[in-house]
Amino acid sequence: MATDTTLLNEPDRNLALELVRATEAAAIRAVPFIGKGDKLAADGAAVDAMRAFLRTVHFDGVVVIGEGEKDRAPMLFNGEHVGDGSGPHTDVAVDPIDGTSMTAQGRQNALSMIAVSDRGTMLDASSVFYMDKLVTDHHGIGVCSLEQSVGDNIRELARAKGKDVGEIIVAVLDRPRHEGLIDEIRSAGAGTRMLLDGDVAGGINAARYETRIDMCAGIGGSPEAVVTACAIKALGGFIEARLAPKDEAEAEKGRAAGLDLERVYDAGGLVASDNTMFVATGVTDGGLVEGVRRKGPIIRTESVVLRSKSGTLRRIQSEHLASRWF
Ligand code: FBP
Repeated sequence: MATDTTLLNEPDRNLALELVRATEAAAIRAVPFIGKGDKLAADGAAVDAMRAFLRTVHFDGVVVIGEGEKDRAPMLFNGEHVGDGSGPHTDVAVDPIDGTSMTAQGRQNALSMIAVSDRGTMLDASSVFYMDKLVTDHHGIGVCSLEQSVGDNIRELARAKGKDVGEIIVAVLDRPRHEGLIDEIRSAGAGTRMLLDGDVAGGINAARYETRIDMCAGIGGSPEAVVTACAIKALGGFIEARLAPKDEAEAEKGRAAGLDLERVYDAGGLVASDNTMFVATGVTDGGLVEGVRRKGPIIRTESVVLRSKSGTLRRIQSEHLASRWF
C-alpha cells in the first residue's frame, strides 16, 4: 500500500480539473490569431497564457514534452519546472496549440492540451521527431498490432467489433508519406478520414465510444504519441507506436539517446504510469470539442478532462466574461 508521502506526491483528481484553466486560457488567447496567417504569433499567445496559468496550479511539474530546447523555446521548454512547486511531482507534456497551422489558416481541429503523469514516467522521444502509430478502442487489444499489416489490423478490428470491414473508418494524417498506407486501407475495403493536422484528437476519437472513427493510423509526431497514450489510458483503449526516424542521422541521434528503434511501444511503454491525466480545450471546432466562441459579453469554451485512475472523460463548458480577457 502507498505511504502517505507517496499519495501526496501523486497527481490527484483536483489537478486535472485545475489544469483545464490553463488550456482554456491558451485557447482564448489564441482566438485573435485564428485565420490571420501567423502561426508563431498564435502559438506565442497560447504559450504565454498557458504558462501564466500553470504557475498558479498546485503541483510540481517538469516539462518532458514542451516547445523544444531552452535556447530555441524561451518558455515551456523541456526541463522547465511548472506549477507552484508545492504539490504532487509530475511529468508534464504541453501543447499550447496542437494545430498551429490550422489555427493560422482558420481551419478546424486545433486544440490546446496538457498531459500529466507521475514523475519520471513519460517517454522522452524528443530525439526522433516521428512515430508510426496505431490507435483503436478496447476492441483492438490483443488483436491489432503494428507488427501486422494495416489490412490485417482492419480485418481483425472489424471482426472484434462485429462490423463489416466496409464500415471501418481509419483516420490518417493527410500527408504524401501516407499514400501507400491510404491505398492499403482502401484495398482492404475500409474507408479513410483524412486529417489535415492533429493526430492526438484523431487517436482519442478512435478510442472513444461511438464515434465515426474506428482506428487512427500512420506517422505523426513522437510527442503526440506520448500525449495520446495519457488519454488512451483513461479511455481503456489500444495504442502502439514505433519510432520512425526520417534518416540515418536521426536514427543515430535516437540510438545515442538510448531509444530502441525496433521496439513497439504500447501505452505503458509510452507512459509508464497508471495515473495519467489529459486535458484539452478546443481552439477551433473539431470532432472532440467545439472551438472558442464569442457571444456578446461571454466567451464560451469547451474542454475534455480525462483521468486514467477513474476512467473518466468529463466535458466542461465554461463561460468567461470577455471583458476580463480583451
Ligand atoms: P503542430 O501544431 O505542432 O504543427 O502539430 C500538428 C500535428 O498535426 C500533430 O498533431 C501531428 O502529430 C504532427 O503535426 C504531424 O507532423 P507533420 O505535420 O510534420 O506531418
